[in-house]
Amino acid sequence: MLLELDNITTGYGKAQVLKDICLHICEGEIVALLGANGAGKSTTLRCIAGVIQPWEGNIKFRGVDTGGVAPYILVSKGISYCPEGRDVFANLTVLENLKIGAYLVDDEKQSEFRLEWVYDLFPRLKERQRQSAASLSGGEQQMLAIGRSLMANPKLLMLDEPSLGVAPILIEAIYSKIQEINASGTSILLVEQNANLALEVADRAYVLEKGEVCLEGTGFELRDNEHVKASYLGIA
Ligand SMILES: Nc1ncnc2c1ncn2[C@@H]1O[C@H](COP(=O)(O)OP(=O)(O)OP(=O)(O)O)[C@@H](O)[C@H]1O
Ligand SMILES: [Mg+2]
Repeated sequence: MLLELDNITTGYGKAQVLKDICLHICEGEIVALLGANGAGKSTTLRCIAGVIQPWEGNIKFRGVDTGGVAPYILVSKGISYCPEGRDVFANLTVLENLKIGAYLVDDEKQSEFRLEWVYDLFPRLKERQRQSAASLSGGEQQMLAIGRSLMANPKLLMLDEPSLGVAPILIEAIYSKIQEINASGTSILLVEQNANLALEVADRAYVLEKGEVCLEGTGFELRDNEHVKASYLGIA
């Protein structure tokens, strides 16, 4: 098992957001996290990334308890988190943004190798490597944010709404890249508003409602589920 959340409860200040979340990701899987606005999807990713701490419950990554471990240590253990809203460093170049993603990689050769790997995956980033991130289109910034989170060579990549604000043609490109990243051995936890899209690529998915897991199953099972169809797939 790569990642295991056992009855995670957490929130912000005194406000509880997640309640008894149980989920797991096996090596090699793409797992989707679906749910309405405010359901707690981003909060779940933040908790796994160590940005916020669990109030109750345990998180295990590759069998080791990660509760209370700092985000940068989790990055070095293989957890990469690409947050909502592509927060690239606007004033830095594409190349500088990517190098920041590798700041924990000591080995210069390894980080050069990763850079070439990311450029192979997203050739547009290579073409624009000396441009400022601010000069990229929205979809290109999304590629940069994903590319940056891949620079640390993660075992688990968490993507928060990679399709948000991206034109349909680029969404397809980004999703085919997500599948390529997965095929290269990185497991993926994907938060996505577009349930159709997510269930197409996900091996399994969880549906969150008001901070609780209300459904789980394979992509195929959930696409066939009446509640999912009515509430998330827009099929009456
Ligand atoms: N930094 C914060 N401080 C206080 N409350 C927060 C904070 N971030 C999120 N919340 C609250 O936690 C709840 C869950 O938010 P979260 O961002 O996890 O939802 P989400 O499922 O990612 O929604 P969306 O689809 O809109 O991104 C919401 O009620 C939100 O108002
Ligand atoms: Mg969110």
